Amino acid sequence: MGKAMDPIDRIQTDRAQARRLNDPNADLCFLALADLEGKASVRTLVLREVEDDHISLFINKTSPKWQVISSGGDAELLIWYSSVQRQYRIRGAMEEMDAGTIKENWQRRPAGSKYLDHVYDQLGPQSSFIPDRATLTSEIAALKSTKADDLEAPPSATGVLMRYHTVDMLDLNHEDRIHDRQLFTFDGNSWRSQVRIP
Ligand SMILES: Cc1cc2nc3c(=O)[nH]c(=O)nc-3n(C[C@H](O)[C@H](O)[C@H](O)COP(=O)(O)O)c2cc1C
Repeated sequence: MGKAMDPIDRIQTDRAQARRLNDPNADLCFLALADLEGKASVRTLVLREVEDDHISLFINKTSPKWQVISSGGDAELLIWYSSVQRQYRIRGAMEEMDAGTIKENWQRRPAGSKYLDHVYDQLGPQSSFIPDRATLTSEIAALKSTKADDLEAPPSATGVLMRYHTVDMLDLNHEDRIHDRQLFTFDGNSWRSQVRIP
């Protein structure tokens, strides 16, 4: 196990390059969760900030995923940039963002997302069943009597941070399909790396 480069620098550089190359995944990630019974689920999310000590995401607390996150269920976040041919699998503790940051970010969301966040409070939790699509569209039509700019973040709108513990990098930029795979581990101070069989 050797002292390693900072894998977060690498993700940030790759993300900037992915954006330049119009990679459709540049601002996305895939969050896998296991609930306390071991049932797995995975979904696409907008990848917000990739900071030196955390990644941030925005979700709604009415979704079943919030139960899993807030009860300490297992989580892994995957980033795949085909434009730069690198995959990152990130693990770490998740925690809720501070209320001020949530509120501030929420105001900048597109109108459609703002209405949807209010629908969860009015109609039912995210991912719950409704009789038909018209039930949803009529609820949104009713909400549209209020301008999106005048809406406040509902209490269910939240943001979460994943604080890095490990980053598993798979780099496909090598000849003969001899990929480079390394596990980076953060000890609170610096990163260590271990080479894995890809
Ligand atoms: C491109 C894309 C971006 C998405 N971004 C988000 C997001 O930032 N936050 C979110 O809660 N759901 C987002 N979703 C929807 C989720 O994938 C998922 O369908 C939703 O969160 C409900 O899933 P769950 O309640 O089972 O977790 C996105 C979906 C796609 C396809």
